[in-house]
Amino acid sequence: MVGKVRQNNKTVKHSPLGAVVYICSMLKQTLLKATEAAGIIIKEYFDKQFTISNKEGVNNLVTEVDHKSEAVIFEVIKKDYPTHFILSEEAGEIKQDSEYKWIIDPIDGTVNYANGIPICCVSIGLEISGKMEMGAVYNPFINEFFFAQRGFGATMNDKKISVTDRADVLKSCLVTGFPYTYLDMPNGPLQVFEKFIRKGIPVRRLGSAAIDLCWVAAGRFDGFYEHKLNAWDSAAGFLIVEEAGGKVTDLSGNAYNPYQPGIIASNGKIHDELARVVNGGDL
Ligand code: IPD
Ligand code: CA
Ligand code: CA
Repeated sequence: MVGKVRQNNKTVKHSPLGAVVYICSMLKQTLLKATEAAGIIIKEYFDKQFTISNKEGVNNLVTEVDHKSEAVIFEVIKKDYPTHFILSEEAGEIKQDSEYKWIIDPIDGTVNYANGIPICCVSIGLEISGKMEMGAVYNPFINEFFFAQRGFGATMNDKKISVTDRADVLKSCLVTGFPYTYLDMPNGPLQVFEKFIRKGIPVRRLGSAAIDLCWVAAGRFDGFYEHKLNAWDSAAGFLIVEEAGGKVTDLSGNAYNPYQPGIIASNGKIHDELARVVNGGDL
């Protein structure tokens, strides 16, 4: 049995496994190229003047550089895969009848970026037939490039990373984020935050959900939770955490779904306790 794959404009025969390996390596190359190209743009414009405007709400910002980053990512992906579906924060959906879907945040941490705070990144996840298969997150300011492919582990700058093995939330270092519009709900962001702070637990707020997730994967944080994210914030980081040995769910502890807002990511060991507290339980 052989599979046929287009290679340099020729049809080449591979074994079925060889064809899958070949397709994955091509997709990976495109993912890395797009992520790197966006990282270069993000860094290049950081010290320059760029326009900043509001989206809904006064503090939900978008800069000229978000659009430039998105444009360069699109250029790379569309050149290699013109028929793939794209979901990107600023452009929205570019619908195509394809099982391949690129989920893009051209700058995660735009408020940081607009204020000259170099904690931001580009994040690109690749979903195939509804399953996240690859993800890349790149912070060009400290040159940290995170990558994961389902079943192959997670890396930072090509070195394997893994989550912590701390098992006690009370001794954990956590990170979270807050939405730009106040969420008035039981066990909302402020109530949960207060619970941890009252116990003296360090809870950081970096301002980039994709970096939060990668830093859980890299063992810098034991856990992360946030009440309201979009698919582009978490798609790549989710896989990076899972492939680093961690666990990612929605706020109720159900399987992670990029298209619903709440997320808990952890080293796995503190996950149930973290979820319990996020849902109103006592510490
Ligand atoms: C934001 C960041 C932030 C999170 C916000 C997101 P953006 O993304 O990930 O950490 O708290 O909810 O919207 O707007 O910088 O791409
Ligand atoms: Ca984002
Ligand atoms: Ca963004």
